[in-house]
Amino acid sequence: MEEVYQFLRKCEYYFLATCEGNQPHVRPFGTVNIFEGNLYIQTGHVKSVAHQIEENPKCEICAYDAAENTWVRVAATLVEDARLEAKASMLDSYPELRAMYNEHDGNTVVYKLTDAIATFSSFTTPPRVVRFGFKEAAEGQINCQECGAVCDKHDVFCPNCGNKLDKRQM
Ligand SMILES: Cc1cc2nc3c(=O)[nH]c(=O)nc-3n(C[C@H](O)[C@H](O)[C@H](O)COP(=O)(O)O)c2cc1C
Repeated sequence: MEEVYQFLRKCEYYFLATCEGNQPHVRPFGTVNIFEGNLYIQTGHVKSVAHQIEENPKCEICAYDAAENTWVRVAATLVEDARLEAKASMLDSYPELRAMYNEHDGNTVVYKLTDAIATFSSFTTPPRVVRFGFKEAAEGQINCQECGAVCDKHDVFCPNCGNKLDKRQM
């Protein structure tokens, strides 16, 4: 997760894709913050992007580091965190945003990236996958080795991605 944060910070901006029905929408975004060990992004409730996320929280982020000729694609589910501390942490990390937003304005919204699968790619190396923001498996559960989703101990295949589960970690 830290690695994804550093990558996005270095790139300075990324593209965020959301869905409106069967129509994808993509736009440049820049905000990214770590709060309580999770990765967050920020927008305003009034924007179309926020309405789309409310309807369908699945998103993808893509950023390209031209200096390293490397890119990352992050597929995630966004979860709004309405706590003032989460918003304040984001805005403190981008003080210039305070010209437009503050944590009490009723517009600022921050989202935590959950069930995130980040794939780092380049033309010269095989893709490398980093997962973060998945729920921890409780007693009698197992995290899928492929996508990280929490599965029941009786599942043979992950209900999320269909991977055959390796029960040896239980
Ligand atoms: C470099 C750059 C970074 C941006 N970062 C953000 C951001 O972090 N959050 C945000 O809400 N808008 C950001 N914007 C503005 C959005 O791209 C813009 O408001 C866009 O229209 C929002 O998408 P929508 O029209 O689908 O709501 C940024 C724009 C640029 C050019």
